[in-house]
Amino acid sequence: MDSLNVMPNVMRIEGGVPLEGTVRAQGAKNAALPVMAACLLLKDGTLTLENVPDLQDVRTMVELLETLGVRVEKDPEGQTRFCVPEEVGFEAPEAQVRKMRASSLVLGPLLARCGQAALPLPGGCSIGSRPIDLHLKGLVQMGAKIEIRNGVVYAQADRLRGRRIYLDFPSVGATENLMMAAALAHGETIIENIAREPEIDNLASVLGSMGVPIEIEGTGCVRIKGIEEVHCGKERVIPDRIEACTYLLAGVMTGGQVTVTDVIPAHFDAMLAKLEEAGARFSVYRDSVTVSPVKRLQSLSLRTMPFPGFPTDLQPQMVAALSLAGGVSMVEESVFQARFLYVEELNRMGANISIRGNTAVISGVRQLQGTSVKATDLRAGAALILAGLAAEGETRVGEMIHVWRGYEAIDEKLRSLGARVGLVPEEAK
Ligand code: UD1
Repeated sequence: MDSLNVMPNVMRIEGGVPLEGTVRAQGAKNAALPVMAACLLLKDGTLTLENVPDLQDVRTMVELLETLGVRVEKDPEGQTRFCVPEEVGFEAPEAQVRKMRASSLVLGPLLARCGQAALPLPGGCSIGSRPIDLHLKGLVQMGAKIEIRNGVVYAQADRLRGRRIYLDFPSVGATENLMMAAALAHGETIIENIAREPEIDNLASVLGSMGVPIEIEGTGCVRIKGIEEVHCGKERVIPDRIEACTYLLAGVMTGGQVTVTDVIPAHFDAMLAKLEEAGARFSVYRDSVTVSPVKRLQSLSLRTMPFPGFPTDLQPQMVAALSLAGGVSMVEESVFQARFLYVEELNRMGANISIRGNTAVISGVRQLQGTSVKATDLRAGAALILAGLAAEGETRVGEMIHVWRGYEAIDEKLRSLGARVGLVPEEAK
Protein backbone atom coordinates (compact mmCIF):
# COMPACT_ATOMS: atom_id res chain seq x y z
CA MET A 1 0.00 0.00 0.00
CA ASP A 2 3.04 2.29 0.03
CA SER A 3 2.13 3.62 -3.38
CA LEU A 4 -0.89 5.38 -1.89
CA ASN A 5 1.47 7.84 -0.22
CA VAL A 6 2.49 9.24 -3.56
CA MET A 7 -0.82 9.01 -5.40
CA PRO A 8 -1.23 11.85 -7.88
CA ASN A 9 -3.42 14.63 -6.59
CA VAL A 10 -5.26 15.50 -9.81
CA MET A 11 -7.59 13.44 -11.98
CA ARG A 12 -8.03 14.48 -15.60
CA ILE A 13 -11.32 13.43 -17.19
CA GLU A 14 -12.36 13.67 -20.81
CA GLY A 15 -16.14 13.69 -20.36
CA GLY A 16 -19.05 12.56 -22.49
CA VAL A 17 -18.23 8.86 -22.88
CA PRO A 18 -21.13 6.51 -21.99
CA LEU A 19 -19.63 4.01 -19.54
CA GLU A 20 -20.10 0.32 -20.33
CA GLY A 21 -19.04 -2.76 -18.43
CA THR A 22 -18.68 -4.37 -15.04
CA VAL A 23 -16.81 -3.41 -11.88
CA ARG A 24 -16.51 -5.24 -8.58
CA ALA A 25 -17.35 -3.40 -5.38
CA GLN A 26 -14.49 -3.04 -2.89
CA GLY A 27 -14.78 -3.96 0.77
CA ALA A 28 -16.56 -1.21 2.69
CA LYS A 29 -14.32 1.49 4.16
CA ASN A 30 -16.80 2.22 6.91
CA ALA A 31 -17.06 -1.43 7.86
CA ALA A 32 -13.31 -2.11 7.68
CA LEU A 33 -12.28 0.72 10.02
CA PRO A 34 -14.34 -0.32 13.08
CA VAL A 35 -13.69 -4.04 12.64
CA MET A 36 -9.97 -3.33 12.44
CA ALA A 37 -10.23 -1.36 15.70
CA ALA A 38 -11.99 -4.35 17.27
CA CYS A 39 -8.74 -6.34 17.11
CA LEU A 40 -7.55 -4.27 20.09
CA LEU A 41 -9.89 -6.28 22.32
CA LEU A 42 -7.58 -9.30 21.86
CA LYS A 43 -4.73 -10.28 24.17
CA ASP A 44 -2.14 -12.34 22.38
CA GLY A 45 -4.43 -13.30 19.53
CA THR A 46 -5.23 -12.72 15.87
CA LEU A 47 -8.16 -11.24 14.03
CA THR A 48 -8.30 -12.29 10.39
CA LEU A 49 -10.28 -10.17 7.94
CA GLU A 50 -11.11 -10.81 4.31
CA ASN A 51 -11.93 -8.15 1.77
CA VAL A 52 -10.15 -5.25 3.50
CA PRO A 53 -9.99 -2.49 0.86
CA ASP A 54 -6.72 -0.87 -0.18
CA LEU A 55 -7.44 2.72 0.87
CA GLN A 56 -5.69 5.65 2.51
CA ASP A 57 -8.01 5.54 5.55
CA VAL A 58 -7.32 1.83 6.00
CA ARG A 59 -3.62 2.58 5.83
CA THR A 60 -4.01 5.26 8.48
CA MET A 61 -5.78 2.76 10.74
CA VAL A 62 -3.01 0.22 10.10
CA GLU A 63 -0.38 2.84 11.11
CA LEU A 64 -2.37 3.63 14.25
CA LEU A 65 -2.68 -0.02 15.24
CA GLU A 66 1.01 -0.63 14.52
CA THR A 67 1.94 2.31 16.76
CA LEU A 68 -0.01 0.62 19.54
CA GLY A 69 1.90 -2.64 19.01
CA VAL A 70 -0.31 -4.63 16.61
CA ARG A 71 1.43 -6.51 13.75
CA VAL A 72 -0.49 -6.35 10.48
CA GLU A 73 0.16 -8.93 7.74
CA LYS A 74 -1.49 -9.40 4.37
CA ASP A 75 -1.25 -12.85 2.82
CA PRO A 76 -1.30 -13.61 -0.92
CA GLU A 77 -4.91 -14.86 -0.68
CA GLY A 78 -5.93 -11.35 0.31
CA GLN A 79 -6.60 -12.00 4.00
CA THR A 80 -5.34 -9.40 6.45
CA ARG A 81 -4.21 -10.61 9.85
CA PHE A 82 -4.04 -8.36 12.89
CA CYS A 83 -1.74 -10.02 15.41
CA VAL A 84 -2.17 -8.44 18.81
CA PRO A 85 0.43 -8.97 21.57
CA GLU A 86 -0.23 -9.47 25.30
CA GLU A 87 0.31 -5.75 25.95
CA VAL A 88 -0.60 -2.82 23.70
CA GLY A 89 -0.15 0.94 24.09
CA PHE A 90 -3.20 2.85 25.31
CA GLU A 91 -2.47 6.26 23.79
CA ALA A 92 -3.83 6.85 20.29
CA PRO A 93 -1.15 8.72 18.32
CA GLU A 94 -2.06 12.28 17.41
CA ALA A 95 -0.70 12.07 13.84
CA GLN A 96 -3.27 9.44 12.80
CA VAL A 97 -6.14 10.91 14.81
CA ARG A 98 -5.59 14.27 13.08
CA LYS A 99 -5.61 12.56 9.68
CA MET A 100 -8.77 10.55 10.21
CA ARG A 101 -11.71 11.08 12.56
CA ALA A 102 -12.55 7.38 12.54
CA SER A 103 -9.40 6.92 14.68
CA SER A 104 -11.70 7.68 17.63
CA LEU A 105 -13.03 4.12 17.17
CA VAL A 106 -10.07 2.80 19.14
CA LEU A 107 -11.24 4.53 22.33
CA GLY A 108 -13.86 1.95 23.37
CA PRO A 109 -11.77 -1.18 22.75
CA LEU A 110 -8.60 0.33 24.29
CA LEU A 111 -10.41 1.42 27.43
CA ALA A 112 -12.16 -1.94 27.82
CA ARG A 113 -8.96 -3.89 27.35
CA CYS A 114 -6.27 -1.70 28.98
CA GLY A 115 -8.38 -0.06 31.69
CA GLN A 116 -7.27 3.30 30.34
CA ALA A 117 -7.07 5.13 27.03
CA ALA A 118 -5.95 8.51 25.72
CA LEU A 119 -7.34 9.99 22.53
CA PRO A 120 -6.52 13.42 21.10
CA LEU A 121 -9.90 15.04 20.30
CA PRO A 122 -10.49 14.65 16.58
CA GLY A 123 -11.81 18.23 16.08
CA GLY A 124 -14.04 19.52 13.28
CA CYS A 125 -13.81 18.69 9.59
CA SER A 126 -14.99 20.12 6.31
CA ILE A 127 -18.49 18.62 6.54
CA GLY A 128 -19.24 20.13 9.94
CA SER A 129 -18.38 19.85 13.61
CA ARG A 130 -18.28 16.22 14.59
CA PRO A 131 -18.28 15.86 18.36
CA ILE A 132 -17.84 12.54 20.16
CA ASP A 133 -20.00 13.50 23.13
CA LEU A 134 -22.31 10.50 22.64
CA HIS A 135 -19.34 8.11 22.67
CA LEU A 136 -18.08 9.66 25.91
CA LYS A 137 -21.52 9.82 27.55
CA GLY A 138 -22.04 6.10 26.96
CA LEU A 139 -18.61 5.22 28.35
CA VAL A 140 -19.30 7.34 31.47
CA GLN A 141 -22.59 5.47 31.91
CA MET A 142 -20.55 2.27 31.85
CA GLY A 143 -18.44 3.57 34.72
CA ALA A 144 -15.54 5.27 32.92
CA LYS A 145 -13.95 8.37 34.40
CA ILE A 146 -13.34 10.82 31.59
CA GLU A 147 -11.29 14.00 31.65
CA ILE A 148 -10.38 16.26 28.78
CA ARG A 149 -7.04 18.02 29.24
CA ASN A 150 -5.26 20.07 26.57
CA GLY A 151 -7.45 18.63 23.82
CA VAL A 152 -6.86 15.00 24.84
CA VAL A 153 -9.55 12.67 26.21
CA TYR A 154 -8.26 10.55 29.10
CA ALA A 155 -10.53 7.66 29.99
CA GLN A 156 -10.06 5.27 32.87
CA ALA A 157 -12.04 2.31 34.25
CA ASP A 158 -10.68 -0.79 35.98
CA ARG A 159 -13.51 -2.70 34.39
CA LEU A 160 -16.47 -1.22 32.57
CA ARG A 161 -19.93 -2.25 33.79
CA GLY A 162 -22.74 -3.37 31.51
CA ARG A 163 -25.58 -0.85 31.45
CA ARG A 164 -28.71 0.12 29.57
CA ILE A 165 -27.73 3.05 27.35
CA TYR A 166 -30.03 5.13 25.19
CA LEU A 167 -28.30 6.99 22.35
CA ASP A 168 -29.77 10.47 21.89
CA PHE A 169 -29.00 10.11 18.17
CA PRO A 170 -28.27 6.85 16.31
CA SER A 171 -24.62 7.77 15.79
CA VAL A 172 -22.69 5.17 13.79
CA GLY A 173 -19.39 5.77 15.57
CA ALA A 174 -20.91 5.91 19.06
CA THR A 175 -22.78 2.64 18.48
CA GLU A 176 -19.55 0.98 17.33
CA ASN A 177 -17.35 2.35 20.11
CA LEU A 178 -19.85 1.30 22.80
CA MET A 179 -20.41 -2.15 21.30
CA MET A 180 -16.67 -2.79 21.42
CA ALA A 181 -16.38 -1.41 24.96
CA ALA A 182 -19.29 -3.60 26.10
CA ALA A 183 -17.59 -6.76 24.80
CA LEU A 184 -15.24 -6.83 27.82
CA ALA A 185 -17.54 -5.12 30.35
CA HIS A 186 -18.86 -6.85 33.45
CA GLY A 187 -22.44 -7.95 32.74
CA GLU A 188 -24.89 -7.16 29.97
CA THR A 189 -25.02 -3.90 28.03
CA ILE A 190 -28.17 -2.93 26.17
CA ILE A 191 -27.81 -0.03 23.78
CA GLU A 192 -31.07 1.48 22.55
CA ASN A 193 -31.60 3.65 19.46
CA ILE A 194 -28.47 2.30 17.81
CA ALA A 195 -27.39 3.09 14.26
CA ARG A 196 -28.85 0.50 11.87
CA GLU A 197 -26.23 0.83 9.10
CA PRO A 198 -25.09 -2.53 7.64
CA GLU A 199 -21.59 -1.77 8.95
CA ILE A 200 -22.97 -2.24 12.49
CA ASP A 201 -24.06 -5.81 11.65
CA ASN A 202 -20.60 -6.48 10.23
CA LEU A 203 -19.02 -5.37 13.51
CA ALA A 204 -21.49 -7.51 15.47
CA SER A 205 -20.44 -10.53 13.36
CA VAL A 206 -16.77 -9.81 14.05
CA LEU A 207 -17.40 -9.56 17.80
CA GLY A 208 -19.48 -12.75 17.59
CA SER A 209 -16.59 -14.52 15.84
CA MET A 210 -14.39 -13.44 18.78
CA GLY A 211 -16.73 -15.18 21.21
CA VAL A 212 -18.82 -12.21 22.37
CA PRO A 213 -22.53 -13.06 22.84
CA ILE A 214 -24.20 -10.27 20.89
CA GLU A 215 -27.65 -9.86 19.46
CA ILE A 216 -29.08 -7.02 17.41
CA GLU A 217 -32.82 -6.70 17.73
CA GLY A 218 -35.00 -5.35 14.94
CA THR A 219 -36.21 -2.63 17.27
CA GLY A 220 -32.90 -0.76 17.05
CA CYS A 221 -31.34 -2.21 20.15
CA VAL A 222 -28.25 -4.36 20.71
CA ARG A 223 -27.60 -6.68 23.66
CA ILE A 224 -24.03 -7.61 24.47
CA LYS A 225 -22.96 -9.95 27.25
CA GLY A 226 -19.50 -8.88 28.35
CA ILE A 227 -16.88 -11.62 28.67
CA GLU A 228 -13.49 -11.87 30.45
CA GLU A 229 -11.43 -12.36 27.33
CA VAL A 230 -12.17 -12.49 23.59
CA HIS A 231 -10.58 -15.15 21.37
CA CYS A 232 -9.18 -15.09 17.83
CA GLY A 233 -11.79 -14.20 15.22
CA LYS A 234 -12.35 -14.19 11.49
CA GLU A 235 -14.82 -12.32 9.28
CA ARG A 236 -15.33 -10.85 5.85
CA VAL A 237 -15.74 -7.11 5.36
CA ILE A 238 -19.07 -6.37 3.64
CA PRO A 239 -19.17 -4.71 0.20
CA ASP A 240 -18.96 -0.92 0.01
CA ARG A 241 -22.49 0.27 -0.76
CA ILE A 242 -21.37 3.88 -1.22
CA GLU A 243 -18.65 2.98 -3.72
CA ALA A 244 -21.04 0.66 -5.57
CA CYS A 245 -23.68 3.38 -5.90
CA THR A 246 -21.06 5.86 -7.11
CA TYR A 247 -20.32 3.57 -10.09
CA LEU A 248 -24.04 3.03 -10.74
CA LEU A 249 -24.49 6.80 -10.84
CA ALA A 250 -21.54 7.04 -13.23
CA GLY A 251 -23.49 4.73 -15.57
CA VAL A 252 -26.71 6.70 -15.17
CA MET A 253 -25.07 10.11 -15.65
CA THR A 254 -23.22 9.12 -18.82
CA GLY A 255 -26.21 7.28 -20.32
CA GLY A 256 -24.28 4.02 -20.21
CA GLN A 257 -24.80 0.50 -18.94
CA VAL A 258 -22.82 -0.36 -15.82
CA THR A 259 -22.95 -3.48 -13.67
CA VAL A 260 -21.56 -3.51 -10.15
CA THR A 261 -20.91 -6.99 -8.77
CA ASP A 262 -20.16 -8.40 -5.31
CA VAL A 263 -22.75 -6.14 -3.70
CA ILE A 264 -25.63 -6.67 -1.29
CA PRO A 265 -28.42 -4.74 -3.06
CA ALA A 266 -30.55 -4.60 0.11
CA HIS A 267 -27.85 -2.33 1.57
CA PHE A 268 -28.75 0.41 -0.91
CA ASP A 269 -32.49 0.07 -1.28
CA ALA A 270 -33.00 3.77 -0.57
CA MET A 271 -30.73 4.68 -3.46
CA LEU A 272 -32.45 2.23 -5.82
CA ALA A 273 -35.87 3.55 -4.81
CA LYS A 274 -34.77 7.11 -5.54
CA LEU A 275 -33.20 6.11 -8.86
CA GLU A 276 -36.49 4.47 -9.82
CA GLU A 277 -38.39 7.62 -8.83
CA ALA A 278 -36.06 9.67 -11.02
CA GLY A 279 -36.81 7.40 -13.97
CA ALA A 280 -33.56 5.42 -14.13
CA ARG A 281 -33.76 1.84 -15.35
CA PHE A 282 -31.92 -0.93 -13.56
CA SER A 283 -31.99 -4.65 -12.84
CA VAL A 284 -31.27 -6.08 -9.43
CA TYR A 285 -29.78 -9.58 -9.10
CA ARG A 286 -28.72 -11.52 -6.02
CA ASP A 287 -25.30 -9.88 -5.72
CA SER A 288 -25.13 -7.41 -8.58
CA VAL A 289 -27.01 -4.46 -10.04
CA THR A 290 -27.03 -3.21 -13.64
CA VAL A 291 -28.17 0.25 -14.69
CA SER A 292 -29.39 0.71 -18.27
CA PRO A 293 -29.28 3.80 -20.46
CA VAL A 294 -31.97 6.40 -19.91
CA LYS A 295 -32.35 9.72 -21.72
CA ARG A 296 -32.67 12.09 -18.77
CA LEU A 297 -33.41 11.72 -15.06
CA GLN A 298 -36.40 13.54 -13.60
CA SER A 299 -36.14 15.83 -10.60
CA LEU A 300 -37.04 14.64 -7.11
CA SER A 301 -36.88 15.57 -3.45
CA LEU A 302 -34.91 13.71 -0.84
CA ARG A 303 -33.64 14.04 2.69
CA THR A 304 -30.56 12.30 4.05
CA MET A 305 -31.26 10.18 7.10
CA PRO A 306 -29.67 7.45 9.19
CA PHE A 307 -30.04 3.95 7.64
CA PRO A 308 -32.35 2.75 6.15
CA GLY A 309 -32.87 6.33 4.99
CA PHE A 310 -30.95 7.87 2.11
CA PRO A 311 -27.26 7.96 3.14
CA THR A 312 -25.53 11.29 3.63
CA ASP A 313 -22.44 9.70 2.06
CA LEU A 314 -24.29 9.55 -1.27
CA GLN A 315 -25.77 13.03 -1.07
CA PRO A 316 -23.05 14.83 -3.10
CA GLN A 317 -23.02 12.15 -5.83
CA MET A 318 -26.83 12.26 -6.06
CA VAL A 319 -26.81 16.06 -6.26
CA ALA A 320 -24.33 15.79 -9.13
CA ALA A 321 -26.73 13.42 -10.92
CA LEU A 322 -29.75 15.64 -10.25
CA SER A 323 -27.88 18.69 -11.56
CA LEU A 324 -28.55 17.17 -15.00
CA ALA A 325 -32.17 16.08 -14.33
CA GLY A 326 -35.26 17.70 -15.83
CA GLY A 327 -36.95 20.05 -13.34
CA VAL A 328 -36.09 21.34 -9.87
CA SER A 329 -34.88 18.92 -7.18
CA MET A 330 -34.62 19.56 -3.45
CA VAL A 331 -32.03 17.70 -1.41
CA GLU A 332 -32.05 18.25 2.34
CA GLU A 333 -29.00 17.29 4.41
CA SER A 334 -30.12 16.31 7.89
CA VAL A 335 -27.11 14.35 9.19
CA PHE A 336 -24.22 16.82 8.84
CA GLN A 337 -24.21 20.60 9.10
CA ALA A 338 -22.02 21.67 6.22
CA ARG A 339 -22.05 19.09 3.52
CA PHE A 340 -22.59 21.40 0.53
CA LEU A 341 -19.13 22.94 0.15
CA TYR A 342 -18.70 21.17 -3.19
CA VAL A 343 -21.77 22.85 -4.71
CA GLU A 344 -19.76 25.92 -5.62
CA GLU A 345 -17.44 23.67 -7.63
CA LEU A 346 -20.35 21.97 -9.40
CA ASN A 347 -21.77 25.39 -10.28
CA ARG A 348 -18.41 26.29 -11.83
CA MET A 349 -19.08 23.36 -14.18
CA GLY A 350 -22.41 24.90 -15.20
CA ALA A 351 -24.74 23.38 -12.61
CA ASN A 352 -27.48 25.61 -11.23
CA ILE A 353 -27.68 24.85 -7.52
CA SER A 354 -28.45 27.21 -4.67
CA ILE A 355 -28.25 26.44 -0.97
CA ARG A 356 -31.07 27.46 1.35
CA GLY A 357 -30.23 26.53 4.91
CA ASN A 358 -29.55 22.81 4.82
CA THR A 359 -31.29 22.23 1.47
CA ALA A 360 -29.82 22.26 -2.02
CA VAL A 361 -32.24 23.56 -4.64
CA ILE A 362 -31.11 22.07 -7.92
CA SER A 363 -32.43 23.42 -11.21
CA GLY A 364 -31.45 20.76 -13.71
CA VAL A 365 -29.32 21.86 -16.68
CA ARG A 366 -28.90 19.99 -19.98
CA GLN A 367 -25.10 19.94 -19.98
CA LEU A 368 -22.16 20.46 -17.65
CA GLN A 369 -18.85 21.85 -18.91
CA GLY A 370 -15.43 20.59 -17.91
CA THR A 371 -13.16 22.89 -15.92
CA SER A 372 -10.68 22.71 -13.02
CA VAL A 373 -12.34 21.96 -9.69
CA LYS A 374 -11.18 20.85 -6.25
CA ALA A 375 -12.47 18.08 -4.02
CA THR A 376 -13.41 19.53 -0.63
CA ASP A 377 -13.87 16.11 0.99
CA LEU A 378 -14.11 12.44 0.06
CA ARG A 379 -17.67 12.21 -1.30
CA ALA A 380 -17.48 15.72 -2.75
CA GLY A 381 -14.54 14.46 -4.79
CA ALA A 382 -16.63 11.54 -6.03
CA ALA A 383 -19.42 13.93 -7.03
CA LEU A 384 -17.01 16.09 -9.03
CA ILE A 385 -15.59 13.04 -10.80
CA LEU A 386 -19.14 11.99 -11.75
CA ALA A 387 -19.85 15.49 -13.03
CA GLY A 388 -16.61 15.40 -15.02
CA LEU A 389 -17.55 12.06 -16.61
CA ALA A 390 -20.85 13.53 -17.81
CA ALA A 391 -19.48 16.96 -18.77
CA GLU A 392 -18.45 18.27 -22.14
CA GLY A 393 -14.67 18.66 -22.49
CA GLU A 394 -11.92 18.22 -19.94
CA THR A 395 -12.34 18.35 -16.17
CA ARG A 396 -9.47 18.38 -13.72
CA VAL A 397 -10.38 17.31 -10.21
CA GLY A 398 -7.75 18.55 -7.75
CA GLU A 399 -7.22 17.48 -4.13
CA MET A 400 -7.67 13.82 -5.05
CA ILE A 401 -6.04 13.12 -1.70
CA HIS A 402 -9.58 13.10 -0.29
CA VAL A 403 -10.79 10.58 -2.86
CA TRP A 404 -7.95 8.11 -2.18
CA ARG A 405 -9.23 7.91 1.40
CA GLY A 406 -12.26 5.97 0.23
CA TYR A 407 -12.08 4.79 -3.41
CA GLU A 408 -9.71 1.97 -4.34
CA ALA A 409 -8.12 2.43 -7.80
CA ILE A 410 -11.00 4.64 -8.98
CA ASP A 411 -9.04 5.69 -12.07
CA GLU A 412 -8.44 2.07 -13.12
CA LYS A 413 -12.01 1.04 -12.41
CA LEU A 414 -13.39 3.93 -14.46
CA ARG A 415 -11.00 3.17 -17.32
CA SER A 416 -12.20 -0.44 -17.29
CA LEU A 417 -15.67 0.98 -18.00
CA GLY A 418 -14.30 2.94 -20.95
CA ALA A 419 -13.89 6.32 -19.25
CA ARG A 420 -11.11 8.55 -20.50
CA VAL A 421 -9.48 9.41 -17.20
CA GLY A 422 -5.88 9.77 -16.12
CA LEU A 423 -3.92 10.87 -13.10
CA VAL A 424 -1.52 13.77 -13.21
CA PRO A 425 0.86 15.02 -10.53
CA GLU A 426 0.04 18.15 -8.54
CA GLU A 427 -1.28 20.96 -10.75
CA ALA A 428 1.20 23.73 -11.48
CA LYS A 429 0.45 26.63 -9.11
C1 UD1 B 1 -20.00 7.49 10.00
C2 UD1 B 1 -19.30 7.26 8.67
C3 UD1 B 1 -19.50 8.46 7.76
C4 UD1 B 1 -20.99 8.73 7.59
C5 UD1 B 1 -21.66 8.87 8.95
C6 UD1 B 1 -23.17 9.01 8.86
C7 UD1 B 1 -17.45 5.85 9.31
C8 UD1 B 1 -15.99 5.70 9.47
N1 UD1 B 1 -17.88 7.05 8.93
O1 UD1 B 1 -19.39 8.63 10.59
O2 UD1 B 1 -18.93 8.15 6.50
O3 UD1 B 1 -21.16 9.94 6.89
O4 UD1 B 1 -21.39 7.70 9.75
O5 UD1 B 1 -23.72 7.94 8.17
O6 UD1 B 1 -18.21 4.92 9.46
N2 UD1 B 1 -22.76 13.26 16.45
C9 UD1 B 1 -22.80 13.98 17.63
N3 UD1 B 1 -22.18 13.45 18.73
C10 UD1 B 1 -21.54 12.25 18.70
C11 UD1 B 1 -21.50 11.53 17.49
C12 UD1 B 1 -22.11 12.05 16.38
O7 UD1 B 1 -23.37 15.07 17.69
O8 UD1 B 1 -20.99 11.84 19.73
C13 UD1 B 1 -23.40 13.83 15.25
C14 UD1 B 1 -22.36 14.16 14.17
O9 UD1 B 1 -21.80 15.42 14.37
C15 UD1 B 1 -23.18 14.09 12.91
C16 UD1 B 1 -24.19 12.97 13.22
O10 UD1 B 1 -24.21 12.85 14.64
O11 UD1 B 1 -23.85 15.29 12.69
C17 UD1 B 1 -23.85 11.64 12.58
O12 UD1 B 1 -22.62 11.20 13.06
P1 UD1 B 1 -22.21 9.65 13.19
O13 UD1 B 1 -23.38 8.80 12.84
O14 UD1 B 1 -21.56 9.46 14.49
O15 UD1 B 1 -21.14 9.54 12.04
P2 UD1 B 1 -19.67 8.97 12.13
O16 UD1 B 1 -19.66 7.70 12.90
O17 UD1 B 1 -18.73 10.06 12.50
